Amino acid sequence: MGIITPRLLAIANMIKDEKCVADIGTDHGYIPIYLAKKHTVKKIYCTDVAEEPLNKARNNINSFGVQKDIEIVKSDGISWIKEYRVKVDTCIIAGMGSKTILQILKEDCELIDCYVICCNTNNTPIRQWAKEHKYFIESEVIVKDNDIIYEVIKINKHAGKKIKNLKDLYFGPILRKTKNNKIYFEKWLLEEQRQNKLLSKIPVKTKKYKDTLKYNKKIKKMINKVIKDEFKS
Ligand SMILES: C[S@@+](CC[C@H](N)C(=O)[O-])C[C@H]1O[C@@H](n2cnc3c(N)ncnc32)[C@H](O)[C@@H]1O
Repeated sequence: MGIITPRLLAIANMIKDEKCVADIGTDHGYIPIYLAKKHTVKKIYCTDVAEEPLNKARNNINSFGVQKDIEIVKSDGISWIKEYRVKVDTCIIAGMGSKTILQILKEDCELIDCYVICCNTNNTPIRQWAKEHKYFIESEVIVKDNDIIYEVIKINKHAGKKIKNLKDLYFGPILRKTKNNKIYFEKWLLEEQRQNKLLSKIPVKTKKYKDTLKYNKKIKKMINKVIKDEFKS
């Protein structure tokens, strides 16, 4: 299927033996279409807060002939799940920043078991949310798409790795244990460079400089300890 990019494929591949999946903020609808074409998920919801993306998704769904397999829902986030009283095995939330994703996760409820999250910004707040809400990390992958590096995280209410410490929060409890992952290494080297650049723009002797330097040192220490050590072994 030509519409599926490496990022979308990494997200779709996180769906294993789910019966019901919802794609929150679907836009083009390509993930639900891909899942419908694979015939592995019984019920697929395709949702977005805005009418325009939903029209786009509707057109794509019709042109791929999978309209019978996908239900379109116009809603803000996941609040519709309680109204519909449906059990959703996994909600996919992708292509948004961590603030929007955290806003959506405020409506988390017992009808949802897992989330597959691919955040456009920092993943630490997402893992922090998982830790605070006693979710586990079921799987984590890193993917490069159009020269942008994305982490895809599946969090599960019942099983997976616990987020135990700061290293897990920043680097991912599963990702940080994978050996010789070139994209992962590249991501953190780029982050180190980004932090250095950021610091050079802040006037010295300000509180912001002090705070950024503290964070910078923490990141560097972890990069050296976790990432470089992993690649030495
Ligand atoms: C950049 S697109 C991402 C599309 C697709 N999920 C992907 O990863 O390629 C973001 C979509 O999320 C939708 N969106 C933003 N906030 C939302 C919310 N609170 N609830 C549902 N959809 C939302 C937008 O309307 C837009 O269509």
